[in-house]
Parts: sequence; C-alpha cells; structure tokens
Amino acid sequence: MRVGVIGLGFVGSSVASVWLRAGASVTGFDISEPRLNSIKQGNASEEAAVVEAFRSGLASGKLKLTSSEADLKDSEVKIICVPVYLRKGRADLSYLQEASGSVARSLKRGDAVIIHPSVPPGTTRKIVRPILESSGLEVGKDFALIYSPERIFVGHAVDDIENRYPTVVSGIDQRSLERGAEIFGKISKKGVVKMPSVEAAEMEKLVEGVYRDTNIALANELAMVCDELGVDFYAVREAANSQPYCHVHLPGFGVGGACIPVYPVFVSSSVSESATKLINLSRELNDSMAKYLASALKRKFGVDSGTKVGILGLAFRGDIADPRLSVTYKLVQELKGIGVESIIVHDPMIKSDPALGSMLTQNLEHVLERSDVCLLATDHTAYRKINWDAINRSTPLILIDGKGMLRGLSSPKVRLYGLGYGERSPGMREKAVQ
Ligand SMILES: NC(=O)c1ccc[n+]([C@@H]2O[C@H](COP(=O)([O-])OP(=O)(O)OC[C@H]3O[C@@H](n4cnc5c(N)ncnc54)[C@H](O)[C@@H]3O)[C@@H](O)[C@H]2O)c1
Repeated sequence: MRVGVIGLGFVGSSVASVWLRAGASVTGFDISEPRLNSIKQGNASEEAAVVEAFRSGLASGKLKLTSSEADLKDSEVKIICVPVYLRKGRADLSYLQEASGSVARSLKRGDAVIIHPSVPPGTTRKIVRPILESSGLEVGKDFALIYSPERIFVGHAVDDIENRYPTVVSGIDQRSLERGAEIFGKISKKGVVKMPSVEAAEMEKLVEGVYRDTNIALANELAMVCDELGVDFYAVREAANSQPYCHVHLPGFGVGGACIPVYPVFVSSSVSESATKLINLSRELNDSMAKYLASALKRKFGVDSGTKVGILGLAFRGDIADPRLSVTYKLVQELKGIGVESIIVHDPMIKSDPALGSMLTQNLEHVLERSDVCLLATDHTAYRKINWDAINRSTPLILIDGKGMLRGLSSPKVRLYGLGYGERSPGMREKAVQ
C-alpha cells in the first residue's frame, strides 16, 4: 500500500512509522522544513520504535520525506495528522483546512482520505468534505472519506495503535466505512469499532477527554472535601476504587496536555450553553485549582514577594518532555499574582521554554536547597527517587505534593503537605465542620 501522511508531528510520525512497520511505502509531507530536517537527523520522536522505523524506511527508500504536496499524488491512502488547537474558546481549523487543500490538489479516483485529529462534531462533513470535493471528485463515488480519531499517548504511541486499543472508524458513507475498516484492519491487532456516522466517531474521541476532565474535577472536589474533613483522600479513593463500579481519578493542581483540557471546549462550543453545564463546571473547577493553591499558600504559609518558590515539573505528565498546556504555566502566573518574585521551575526532561515566564533549570539540588516552598506539579519518576534526608538545608522545606506521590515520605528536611492529604493538607480549606 502507498500511504501519504500529511503532518509529521507527534501523531503523524507515529502513524507513518506504524505503516512503515506494516510494509507500506510512505510519503511523509510536512510544511515545516525545520521539522523535516530534524526527522532526517534522527529526531522523529522520543519513541525508539518511531526513530527506528524512520531510519530503516529512509535507508530502504520506503519512506520519502517532502514539503511538496505534488508528491502526495502517488499515495492511494492519504492520512491527515495536523493539529487542531483551541484559540479564543473555539477550535482553530485552519491547519486542517490547509491540509485538506493539499490533499484536494493531489486527489485521484480510488483514493481514501483519512482524518485523524480530534475535532468538533460535524467538521469532517461540513468543513473537510467541501474542500476535498473542490477537486471536482465526488465523495463516495470517486474517493472514500474516513474519520478515525487517534487514541495514542506520548511515549507508547506505536504500541497503542498496533496493540492496545481497537481503532474507532467511521465513513461519510457505507463504502467509506468499509474501506476504512479494511485499511485499519491491517494494522490494528485489537480490530476496529465501526461507528454509525462520522459525527459519532468525532464525538467518541471528545467524550474520552470529557470523561477524564469531569472525573478529575470530581477527584479535585472530593480531595478538597477530604482536606476539610481531615480525611486522607488517597486512602478513601483506593478503597472506593476496589469496588468495580467506582473509578475515581487522581486530583491535581489542574489538567494539562493538548487533549483533556481542550476536548470539553470542542464539545461545549458546538452546542447551546445550557447543554453542557457539568462539562463547563468541571473545566472551571480544574482551571481554578492553581489559583486556589496560590491563595492557600498566601493565607496559610504567608507566601509573599520575599518567598522563594520552586516548582517541580513542567511536563504535563510524568516522564515525558511535553509541556503543552501544563498546569505549571498557570502556577507561575498565579504565584506572580500573589506577588511572588522568585520562582524556579525544575524539569528533568525539558531544557528551555521561552513561554514559561520564569527561570527553568535541570539542577534539582539547587531548587530543593534554595526554595522556601516547593510545589510538586508533575509525577516524574526522578522525584520519587530524591534522597530528601540528603538535602543541604538548615530549615525544613515546605513541600506541597500535588500528585499524591510522596505520601509515605518522612524526613527532618521536609514539612510535607498535599492536596487530599487530609490532616496533612496545606490547610487549604477553612474548617466548616467544627
Ligand atoms: N498529541 C497527542 O497526544 C494527541 C493524541 C491524540 C490525538 N491528537 C490529535 O492529533 C492532532 C495532531 O497533533 P500532534 O501532536 O501530532 O501535533 P504536532 O504539533 O506535534 O504536529 C503537527 C505537524 O503538522 C505540521 N503541519 C501543520 N500544518 C500542516 C499542513 N497544512 N500540511 C502539512 N503539515 C502540516 C506541522 O509542521 C507539524 O510538524 C492534535 O490536534 C490532536 O487533535 C493528539
């Protein structure tokens, strides 16, 4: 099979490598020359399986990298993997529209076009289809139009596509659906889930994110309730989740990443305001956690302009180098809002970030030794391995665990508090029950 992949970012490079591993010839098209050069230099991804598939694809000639859309003509399956961002509360579909234009100009009879990015329901039919049909070809009759959301996580995307989940597939008509099922049947060991419409498949992906955002909001609220009651939320959660119908998520200082905080907005901006009360409230609650923490720090620990604050973690999830929409940006902003002037962020995997608005370092010792207060924002494995007793300091560090990962810690060098820690919470809530 000859496959064209449009957009070679995290999703596109993972998708391209899966098709290479399945024996397909792949044309990888990206508008960014720096990205293409970086791929050629062996930096396609953090994932070894992707790097290796690209290396052997380039060596064997099975992979062609290009910034010329004319090169997409050869491929019979064209897969769009460009991003759809959230801008000013709505989905920015400009990259998808541009990429659809490139596909339209290289479309021929018999092709299948697959749309991967997560989008507001209706996008494939109302936005992408007319652009593709501007080629003069008719969907259903001349080419297949398939929507299939990517269900992958940074760090193990290839395994996700090949082994972990069934692929959700939809088609603009029955023939497109069957063609999509046949195509994905070649790479997905867990098979395919055929959806009744493209809108249903678009919504399915968003629902995965909404479920998690809403569940995290519930966990945040329950953690704050437990703190007020002086009850250990984590012990409660573990016991409650031992019952098979209970799946309470973990609380935190907010929700980051390119997906979970974004998809609820794709849903709410697609329907009337009153239709998404719980979804909106969950988003609001999760977004307010950083402000809540900052005001608790000010009230309970007297954090002010003279306090040196360290933040452990910039990545939105542990053990990855991806800071997209990380809660740490909000923490920095809220700390500045209460007057804090000295903030240092540590991340073991991210070396620089001009958007952060504070100093970023990889020197963990320095942050632990010079800070008065440290906030643990990301569950990097490196933070589990810290030898707290060995920190060189004369007064204990006030350490606020936002991930519930240091609960067993006891060290004279640390005064440990945590969201959901109950009696060892930072006293974030005034006691209501006396
Ligand atoms: N990142 C994730 O974990 C994840 C998981 C599942 C789904 N998704 C979805 O996939 C989409 C893509 O995400 P990503 O993480 O790969 O983005 P990314 O920013 O890593 O990569 C996008 C790539 O597309 C290229 N590009 C932009 N416009 C183009 C065009 N018109 N033609 C060709 N190339 C173009 C860019 O140069 C870039 O290399 C997201 O919007 C999201 O909806 C992402």
